[in-house]
Amino acid sequence: PLKVTKILCIGAGYVGGPTCAVIALKCPHIKVTIVDLNQARIDAWNSPDFKLPIYEPGLEDVVRQCRGRNLFFSTDVEKGIQDAELIFVSVNTPTKKSGVGAGFAADLNYVELATRQIAAVATSSKIVVEKSTVPCRTAESMRTILEANSKPNCRFDILSNPEFLAEGTAISDLFNPDRVLIGSLQTPEGKAACAALKGVYANWVKEEQILTVGLWSSELSKLAANAMLAQRISSVNALSAICEATGANIDEVANAVGYDSRVGPKFLKASVGFGGSCFQKDILNLVYLSESLHLPEVAAYWRQVVEMNEYQKRRFSKRVVDTLFNTITGKRIAVLGFAFKADTGDTRESAAITLIRDFQSERALVNIYDPQVNEAQIWADLQEASPGIPLESIKKQVTIHKSALDACRDAEAVVIATEWKEFKEIAWEEVYKYMKKPAFVFDGRLLVDAERLGAIGFKVTTIGRSALLV
Ligand code: NAD
Ligand code: UDX
Repeated sequence: PLKVTKILCIGAGYVGGPTCAVIALKCPHIKVTIVDLNQARIDAWNSPDFKLPIYEPGLEDVVRQCRGRNLFFSTDVEKGIQDAELIFVSVNTPTKKSGVGAGFAADLNYVELATRQIAAVATSSKIVVEKSTVPCRTAESMRTILEANSKPNCRFDILSNPEFLAEGTAISDLFNPDRVLIGSLQTPEGKAACAALKGVYANWVKEEQILTVGLWSSELSKLAANAMLAQRISSVNALSAICEATGANIDEVANAVGYDSRVGPKFLKASVGFGGSCFQKDILNLVYLSESLHLPEVAAYWRQVVEMNEYQKRRFSKRVVDTLFNTITGKRIAVLGFAFKADTGDTRESAAITLIRDFQSERALVNIYDPQVNEAQIWADLQEASPGIPLESIKKQVTIHKSALDACRDAEAVVIATEWKEFKEIAWEEVYKYMKKPAFVFDGRLLVDAERLGAIGFKVTTIGRSALLV
């Protein structure tokens, strides 16, 4: 098979950046270039003091080892395309906001533009790899575009190679993936392209963990994996509502259920609701796909996973209001954590955004602290969540703080929205002194020791547990 020596990645985001940086680290003989249209993002990847555009444990170390050696970041997309033998398309595929399928279908405009640019610029044959998460059969459209626009002696082979990394653990997931999935046409050319990409991963991933399948299976497997992972969380969150109403404890229930080796213990943590750029988007994408295929029962089944998640967020805000004597108007609430999970600065679809919006509409005062999310991002997210409300009005209700302790000062309630480890280790005795009494803590992440906080004097409410612990 072709031994790949030059790789381009289009899209220097949460996936393209870490994935291709790890390829560069593990394959010193391959020159890896990552391009993006966003100049500020590329400047950050190239910044002399390694102030990278995304926070991901271990990433800086990888970039330090490879940047300038065999890893390059640039905005020159055309040159990148010309030079490369293999091109990853790792651009964003957000949910469509308008037009046909609005609110469900994936917006494939960025994928199409990148594909058209490859066709327009390429003067030699390329292997084009879908890295973005796309609906089943997108590779077909890419192939049509490429073939309709290619020059003589230019062959394009299309592969699907979905990414399974999770943010916050991206580098260790990439170093030690459960599996790498490569989909190709089952033609001799398709199989040869597949072997070339397999050769890249084989530099550090065991052969038996590199699965090679048909194109459509590969595309669908990515949506299926995310849907089934999210479904576990919605299942456990649905059970957490029953726990709160009965006195069962969701941690004990999840542990008991997860002991069954057929279920397994991971990914069964009840929470204030899942967030992140993938789960909701990919399930809605699957729902849309099912509807387009005239499978309404299948669509309704998956849709319920997202609806349960919305319900979980609503239920949590309501519990805060109910517990604070049915009104939070004018009360100060400290929200600890703004990222959608710990160890990332990413806020896309974070449950914290929904909670804070709910608190705002109850006219509460909100203090926010997150160790990684920058202020500009918080303001942008809050503004997007309350369309029509000027930022100035939002700023009258919301304050951003530089430490958890500061955020909790004079608050009537603390809401834990993200499972940052440091929230476990806060000087809770100090916090208690600073707060209005009774001092309430709402743990949306099963993070703190409710009994210990109760002993200090807090009134603790935990997801998936019934009464207040005094
Ligand atoms: P992102 O928004 O962080 O990055 C995408 C980048 O592509 C942006 O910087 C954008 O400027 C750039 N871009 C768009 N069109 C371009 C073009 N024509 N030329 C050059 N650059 C272009 O998105 P992401 O989180 O990295 O996700 C990328 C894809 O990977 C999505 O399809 C997503 O569903 C999928 N995915 C994401 C994750 C995750 O954890 N974030 C995990 C697995 C898969
Ligand atoms: C997810 C998939 O895990 C990954 O394989 C895919 O490539 C991209 O989408 P990501 O969204 O980055 O990754 O993080 P993940 O760890 O899956 O968490 C998603 C959300 O679910 C977070 O808000 C997290 O807090 C929440 N979650 C996760 C729970 O509420 N309970 C759990 O048990 C696990």
